[in-house]
Amino acid sequence: MDYAATGSQALARIAESGNLDALEALRIEFLGKQGSISGLLKTLGGMSADERQSEGPKIHALREDVSAALAAHKDALESAALEARLASESIDLSLPAPASPRGTIHPVSQVMDELAEIFADLGFAVATGPEIEDGWHNFTALNMPESHPARAMHDTFYFPDRNESGEEMLLRTHTSPVQIRTMLEQGAPLRIIAPGRVYRSDSDATHTPMFHQIEGLVIDKGIHLGHLKWTLETMLGAFFERDDIVLRLRPSYFPFTEPSVEVDTGYSFEGGRRVVGGSGDAPGHSWMELLGSGMVNRHVLAAGGLDPDEWQGFAFGVGVDRLAMLKYGMNDLRAFFDGDVRWLAHYGFSPLDVPTLSGGVGAGA
Ligand code: DAH
Repeated sequence: MDYAATGSQALARIAESGNLDALEALRIEFLGKQGSISGLLKTLGGMSADERQSEGPKIHALREDVSAALAAHKDALESAALEARLASESIDLSLPAPASPRGTIHPVSQVMDELAEIFADLGFAVATGPEIEDGWHNFTALNMPESHPARAMHDTFYFPDRNESGEEMLLRTHTSPVQIRTMLEQGAPLRIIAPGRVYRSDSDATHTPMFHQIEGLVIDKGIHLGHLKWTLETMLGAFFERDDIVLRLRPSYFPFTEPSVEVDTGYSFEGGRRVVGGSGDAPGHSWMELLGSGMVNRHVLAAGGLDPDEWQGFAFGVGVDRLAMLKYGMNDLRAFFDGDVRWLAHYGFSPLDVPTLSGGVGAGA
């Protein structure tokens, strides 16, 4: 029998088969149980030993050739199919971008980024704490024991149950508990800001049940009120991008600072809008209260695990939403949290306009 002719015929038909189904049909035709080449192998049983010796290798070689050709052609068909699929599924990245970018950075995020950038330049790290806080961190450690009247003044949202240590649980009413957590975790010296959400049961044009604060805390040796004043002047000058910021430190009371000061800044009205700058005593100017601050109370240092005879510090807390309103000219705080796309499009910032000190922290609104 002419195995060579059978072989080349089979190889030609394999080469011509154009898809995997046709190829599988050929495999069955040649090598399946009833296949033609399988049939040839079966004839070996009926041969004499001599014949088998001369025919056997030829039939086996034929089977090898055909199954190698089937495998090779199968590979080729499969990669062609993959190529075709990849080509059909490719995405055209050259599509034009939308005419105006959708989505903006919220003014609160923008102002927080600006302040983080300004404070990073002064050597402050960013610290965080939980919004669900316990009474010890939110009040007691800040020199407000359970009987303290200031505790009642905070319009606190309480949870119905206490925690496993018997502490009442609440939504933090200010970012000041992060002072305690950071002192306990990191010790001294410290230079941190703690931005975040805070909650009070209060709602009108200038109060929302959730709002934003940034806390500042510096602990070191020999720290005094002058350091506080310089830091706030420098920070506000960078934030409002003015070199004529004038601050007035007014004696005040906070349980966690002693002495405590309320910090006012001079401003005037320009085009119906408050513009920060100048002394509040200058003609056409007034003072406005901007933030609370003071020297960290000895009891607070002790609650933070620090020796008050060794370490001193100053702290401040400022409303981020209020800073945003002052800098960018919104007048209703509630609109900050309405999610109205027209408001967001108007007051939001370009996602590509990241505040940097070198590029100017005050991106164009
Ligand atoms: N925690 C105060 C509040 O929410 C703000 C504040 C005042 C924070 C004085 C301070 C501070 O760190 O020293 O009303």
